Amino acid sequence: MKIIMLGAPGAGKGTQAKMIAEKFGIPHISTGDIFRANIKNGTELGAKAKEYMDQGLLVPDELTCDLVVDRIQQEDCKKGYILDGFPRTIPQAEALDAALTKLGENIDFAINVEVPDENIVRRMGGRRACVSCGATYHVVYNAPAKENVCDACGAELILRDDDKPETVQKRLSVYHEQTQPLIDYYTKKGVIAEVDGTIDMQDVFAAICKILGE
Ligand code: AP5
Ligand code: MG
Repeated sequence: MKIIMLGAPGAGKGTQAKMIAEKFGIPHISTGDIFRANIKNGTELGAKAKEYMDQGLLVPDELTCDLVVDRIQQEDCKKGYILDGFPRTIPQAEALDAALTKLGENIDFAINVEVPDENIVRRMGGRRACVSCGATYHVVYNAPAKENVCDACGAELILRDDDKPETVQKRLSVYHEQTQPLIDYYTKKGVIAEVDGTIDMQDVFAAICKILGE
């Protein structure tokens, strides 16, 4: 099963993608997590990506597309995968389509997690992310058992650099301009499904499982 998660920054793509990946035994591929791991490891890609991420801008397509096209051809992707945060521009979607066509494959579902901008700004300040495994928490809605410690791996939880209110606003406007057009793109392909992302995360997950036929 090949799934794309669409939705604004903070809509809950990562939260849901992790649960889906676990349930279906497929890899969760988050370009944001890949860039953050590169920043942490001090790679050249990380240094380039950070310039854009810290401003709330998208990393250029030429640094992003090849990376994902390579990743989806790895052995663990044979049974499918869940893409979180990619594609997020029309050229990225076209690059993905071109790669899938060559492989004789196609996307099964593009799930749009719908959350209004007002809710997003409130959510982001409370998010905490694991520096090591990328797990995501919320100080109110999904608190870790021990403050600032990851339940999954025991590493430290931090507030992401791009979760400052002014950067969140920029990310939202970039989303509306460059990523929202993908909803139309995947609607035309007949694979779009919408879920209400404002409800409890377990209920969002149940709605997604229903769409996926589980
Ligand atoms: P990325 O890491 O993809 O960030 P994003 O799209 O901005 O989305 P987030 O990860 O912030 O939110 P999410 O939807 O995953 O929500 P989450 O589950 O964490 O990208 C970061 C940056 O990298 C980009 O700005 C860009 O610069 C660059 N980048 C990445 N991919 C790129 C690409 N393809 N092209 C170019 N540049 C790229 O949830 C948010 C919070 O809400 C959490 O605290 C969570 O616990 C809580 N929450 C979740 N669900 C609920 C719920 N139902 N109720 C209450 N709280 C909830
Ligand atoms: Mg995320």
